[in-house]
Amino acid sequence: MELLSADRFSPEDLTDAYNQTRMDYLVPMPMNVARFQEYTRVYNVDISRSCVVYDAETELILGLGMLGVRPERGWITRLGVLPYGRRLGTGSALMTGLLAAAEEMKLPTVWLEVIKGNSPAHQLFWKFGFRDIRELIVARRPPNPELNQQALDRIKRVTALNHEDAVVLLSHRKERPNWLNETETFQNVRNLSALLVELENGGRGWVTYHAGLLQLTRIIVEVTVGDEAEVTESVLSIMHQLHKRQDAIAENFCDGGIWHGFQRIGYFDSFRRIEMKKDMGF
Ligand SMILES: CC(C)(COP(=O)(O)OP(=O)(O)OC[C@H]1O[C@@H](n2cnc3c(N)ncnc32)[C@H](O)[C@@H]1OP(=O)(O)O)[C@@H](O)C(=O)NCCC(=O)NCCS
Repeated sequence: MELLSADRFSPEDLTDAYNQTRMDYLVPMPMNVARFQEYTRVYNVDISRSCVVYDAETELILGLGMLGVRPERGWITRLGVLPYGRRLGTGSALMTGLLAAAEEMKLPTVWLEVIKGNSPAHQLFWKFGFRDIRELIVARRPPNPELNQQALDRIKRVTALNHEDAVVLLSHRKERPNWLNETETFQNVRNLSALLVELENGGRGWVTYHAGLLQLTRIIVEVTVGDEAEVTESVLSIMHQLHKRQDAIAENFCDGGIWHGFQRIGYFDSFRRIEMKKDMGF
């Protein structure tokens, strides 16, 4: 078995291997090649710093792990080992390779997320010095043509903004976003929409999102003035009034007032992730 740089393999081979490592995964997340390439681009994954464990005899990829790189920080993602080859040290070999790459680049911190309840991975990450930072919610909402009239009646003014303005809003957030939702991510995507909302009672907030044909994604809400749950409810109500047919997914945000606003208009907790961090000592 050899630990090799992932750039020695084609995107097709890496995608195929990734899907095989996730066949028995808690939350199914299959990818095709286009999605795999989009994922690496949007989240600044450096394939040349990512790792593969390869069995030359059988010509099989046994496991892989990828490293995202942004200024002063790294991110381990898509780590997986084929089901039949687990508990033999392959996951550890991948972690060692990824952390060595981060060390070589002198990245002060490395981040990752693990789905809550994925005990093998959580224990592996603890063993490699990662510590829990916070719990993140992944929430979904099916399309619902019924409007939340009460929340809409509270609105005084709505201003629609373009992609560039959305990125400016996102770059001024109060709370530290998770890797998936960092401003760099949004600079790597196109066609974001944004709505600035003002309530009659002085409350203010905004939402940024990507409106696909079938789904609203990359939803971020921030409340600048007023009750977080109330403003969020109104901000999301207007977004869903404009996009009645799409279902919606909001990823990796924290519990609190904003989440209560999401729940009020029909979002449910799909699963949770634990964000973890390792200080590299630089
Ligand atoms: C998590 C995963 C990558 C571990 O790979 P692996 O090759 O089995 O890992 P290793 O053999 O190197 O094990 C290293 C350590 O991980 C932990 N670990 C691995 N499997 C475990 C299990 N089933 N139960 C508890 N701890 C486990 C242990 O701490 C182990 O150390 P130990 O053997 O000294 O007890 C593998 O189980 C996997 O691919 N799971 C599905 C995909 C996934 O969950 N990816 C992580 C997404 S965040």
